[in-house]
Amino acid sequence: MKFADIKVIAISGAGTMGSGIAQIFAKKGYQVIVSDIKEEFLDKSKNLIKVFNSSLLEEGLMTKEEEEKVYENIKFTTNVQDFKDADIVIEAIVEKLDIKQNYWKEIEAITRPDTIFATNTSGLSVNDISAKVEKKDRFIGTHFWNPAHIIPLVELIRADATSDEIVDLLKEVMDDIDKVSVVVLKDAYGFIGNRLQFAAFREAVNIVERGIATPEDVDKAMKYGPGFRYPLIGPLETADLGGLDTFYNISSYLFEDLADTKTPQEILQKLIDKDELGVKTKKGFYDYSDGKDEEAIKNRDKMLFEMLKYIYKK
Ligand SMILES: NC(=O)c1ccc[n+]([C@@H]2O[C@H](COP(=O)([O-])OP(=O)(O)OC[C@H]3O[C@@H](n4cnc5c(N)ncnc54)[C@H](O)[C@@H]3O)[C@@H](O)[C@H]2O)c1
Repeated sequence: MKFADIKVIAISGAGTMGSGIAQIFAKKGYQVIVSDIKEEFLDKSKNLIKVFNSSLLEEGLMTKEEEEKVYENIKFTTNVQDFKDADIVIEAIVEKLDIKQNYWKEIEAITRPDTIFATNTSGLSVNDISAKVEKKDRFIGTHFWNPAHIIPLVELIRADATSDEIVDLLKEVMDDIDKVSVVVLKDAYGFIGNRLQFAAFREAVNIVERGIATPEDVDKAMKYGPGFRYPLIGPLETADLGGLDTFYNISSYLFEDLADTKTPQEILQKLIDKDELGVKTKKGFYDYSDGKDEEAIKNRDKMLFEMLKYIYKK
């Protein structure tokens, strides 16, 4: 299949991710079919897509015409047989290995032999997910980041059998929908983004646990220090600019003292035991009572939109 042949995108799972991914493709003019197991989940997805559109319109990141296109181009279904003409199937169903494996077996029996199969798993092995698929060369991971209609990155994860042709084709598709793609050359837990994110998270928790700094100052240090650079200069570019000899010298004494725990830290377990799970229970490292939860989400989205506008301008 060539890029020009790709017209129909089937998305399974009308949840947080499936809805966002559907919105992106429909906005670009692809024919999108979204499936879920119950009508009520499809109704939720329709509402969610309206919310995404209204915030993009409000921010001037989408036109009224594009909004109309989104509604015109998405068909919702509970009948997976409607996927039979799909050029790409993107699976965003529950993160359970056996369910995903059986799902793909079912999809292979319905679709064409050249249909591209993409899983949006957060971190399961793409090889394992494709275990029951016969024609594995067309199987790939496409890890969109949440919220998918805002975050530019999509990680393309090669499984052992994924063909070069499929990787190249998916890169073209991601360019077309204005996403920035990176290729994960081997199926590794956490891909690239979550490996980096969780390395920083482990150290952030370690700093708090050891009393080196407060949660407020850890977050502030990241936002106004290393994090201030990261949207523009990645960690390896930073090292090149700083001098690899200097980075080597710092690594030689600092690595020794950094967190290297193989299990989640005790402080996290304690917070979880107290049902302090963050925004969703109104307490975590911070307090989110009295409307501070909604404020935190609003502020985050507002800042992400500003970043997106900056990236579009570049
Ligand atoms: N939420 C995130 O931050 C995030 C980010 C990146 C990747 N992911 C991954 O994306 C996938 C979906 O996550 P989500 O957060 O959108 O989940 P979600 O729970 O919001 O949505 C999943 C949807 O899949 C539906 N579903 C389950 N089995 C199905 C089937 N057989 N056919 C069709 N639909 C089915 C469910 O009814 C539900 O509506 C998971 O693999 C998850 O790990 C999530």
